Amino acid sequence: MLRIGFLTSGGDCQALNAAMRGVFKCIVNNAKEPVEFYGFEDGYKGLIYGKFRILTGQDFKGILTRGGTILGTSRVPFKTIREPDENGIDKVAAMKQTYHKLQLDCLVMGGGNGSHKTANLLSEEGLNVVTLPKTIDNDLWGTDMTFGFQSAIDIATKCIDDIHTTASSHGRVFIVEIMGHKVGWLPLNAGIAGGADIILIPEIPYDINKVVEAIEERDKGGSRFTIIVVAEGAISKEDAKLSKKEYKKKITKATGREVRVTVPGHTQRGGAPDPYDRVFATRIGAEAGKLILKKEFGYMVGYKNREMVKVPLSEVAGKLKMVDPKSSIIKEAKMVGISFGD
Ligand code: F6P
Repeated sequence: MLRIGFLTSGGDCQALNAAMRGVFKCIVNNAKEPVEFYGFEDGYKGLIYGKFRILTGQDFKGILTRGGTILGTSRVPFKTIREPDENGIDKVAAMKQTYHKLQLDCLVMGGGNGSHKTANLLSEEGLNVVTLPKTIDNDLWGTDMTFGFQSAIDIATKCIDDIHTTASSHGRVFIVEIMGHKVGWLPLNAGIAGGADIILIPEIPYDINKVVEAIEERDKGGSRFTIIVVAEGAISKEDAKLSKKEYKKKITKATGREVRVTVPGHTQRGGAPDPYDRVFATRIGAEAGKLILKKEFGYMVGYKNREMVKVPLSEVAGKLKMVDPKSSIIKEAKMVGISFGD
């Protein structure tokens, strides 16, 4: 008998269900022995407090296209993982206890950066762990792509597209704040796809005077409007403290133009995965299933140079994959006239 536990951790994203379905299907189609699947509720909390349900084929039906996660998720910050909870429970010991009590052969974790630190810790503590690279931010080390990222680009791009018509009608400057946590992958890609005029990302410090210059250049060229895509992580600490109203006022003062701010926010993580993510997450799931069947543990399944790869969790944990300001995508964007405010 093979016993496999699933959990999804951290912020949700599109294609988490598709990835788990991929693991499930790969295993039931290829295992040489009976398999039992356990689903832990709300991320690592389910493992800590023993909250789980047995998953059957029925649970995996119709979920290729379903957004969110059928298991629920939560954030259990890594920095507090070694601290007892409010009732004095040792979280790491409790997770190990649940795993051993259920006689699991492997834990499959779908998660992003913080969640991978905990996955690595559990692996170091002797649990068999295989992980699925999930996040709209695409900031996981060891993989060129995470699932959720492409679907989020679609949503953010649609938002920028829609803003164009109203910005043009009114001749306004529009600031569109795009998610991505501390990195600029999502704003960069959605910004280029949506035809943004200025893209501000955390990896390229910007000068507000350069932003104003770029707006003035557009004015001189006869453009009635300007679209600025700002990564949530590019907003300075000082500006982040401002309310949207105050922020708008500050930019209005700097540019002398009528400014509006749009924030698509969590819609970027919502809804069904796009076809790219359905394919990608299914492949990730199948590769994870393959590793489990071969009893190769302690890896994240990733994608490098157009190949599916396995990356040791110890390499992934604690690192951030950032946009290289010298990369060709940035140079190409600049060559077509996009300003990065630098
Ligand atoms: O990591 C995904 C993400 O959506 C980031 O882009 C964003 O910074 C963060 O999560 C938002 O977190 P929360 O859902 O806890 O508000």
